[in-house]
Amino acid sequence: MSPVTQARGVERLVRGQDTQDGAGVRLTRVLSHDLQQRLDPFLMLDAFGSDKPDDYIAGFPNHPHRGFETVTYMIAGRMRHRDSGGHEGLLQNGGVQWMTAGRGLVHSEMPEQEEGVMEGFQLWLNLPAKNKLCEPWYRDIQSADIPEVTTPEQVLVRVIAGAAQGVAGAVTREHTEPLYLDVHFPDRDGAVLEQAIASSHHAFVYVYRGRVEVVQGDSQTTVPAQRMAILSDGGDGVVLRAQANTRAILIAGKPLREPIAQYGPFVMNTREELAQAVDDFRAGLMG
Ligand code: FE2
Repeated sequence: MSPVTQARGVERLVRGQDTQDGAGVRLTRVLSHDLQQRLDPFLMLDAFGSDKPDDYIAGFPNHPHRGFETVTYMIAGRMRHRDSGGHEGLLQNGGVQWMTAGRGLVHSEMPEQEEGVMEGFQLWLNLPAKNKLCEPWYRDIQSADIPEVTTPEQVLVRVIAGAAQGVAGAVTREHTEPLYLDVHFPDRDGAVLEQAIASSHHAFVYVYRGRVEVVQGDSQTTVPAQRMAILSDGGDGVVLRAQANTRAILIAGKPLREPIAQYGPFVMNTREELAQAVDDFRAGLMG
């Protein structure tokens, strides 16, 4: 029996914007500021992928965050994380770092490689107003600790957050209930993945290799590589059919429906709270 009876379609395809961040890291901003309401509770998605050290070597030296969570998924490469709480970790091949900035911290994210490919994603996930000033928290999840499930269609699903095919992910979050899957399709065309998504949640798919078709009844929408498909709201899930060796991330979450005020690395609900964040950072209160 199919777990998806009312599949979501594609509302629109988004091509990311090439940009630079940190000390000059080249990346593609897939989920940008103008999509924050539409894809609430997600605030940003950056994709990075290059085998040219000049594109990534400068890294992200010390900078603050307040009011949300950052989820960094490293597909290939090595990045060292240090923060003002004294935490340090090495994020590498297939691992995830989940950081809750809460009331604020200062951290650095620096490449620990001078050559080779660095590829991955950083997702920003909002916190509800009542938790924006919570105690900072973070967790490094090594690749081997990310639950995986292979479907009868031989689709490998890495369950970073939420649940898929009856398997609970590495992380669960109470208020935004994020689903974060990295889906690896097999080396034949046409394999299908059906994934349940709560009807009230916002959802999108980003294809980073190959090509996916989002199937809705008799129709389908093709999503080529390096494109994000914003999925239509409603329905009880999504049906993806892919070209051989396609890889895609599927992300969904429960909207907070609260005002969003952003100033660079601070995301609060009001301008006054942003001004306070700047003052607190200048006063050294974030570490
Ligand atoms: Fe950061």
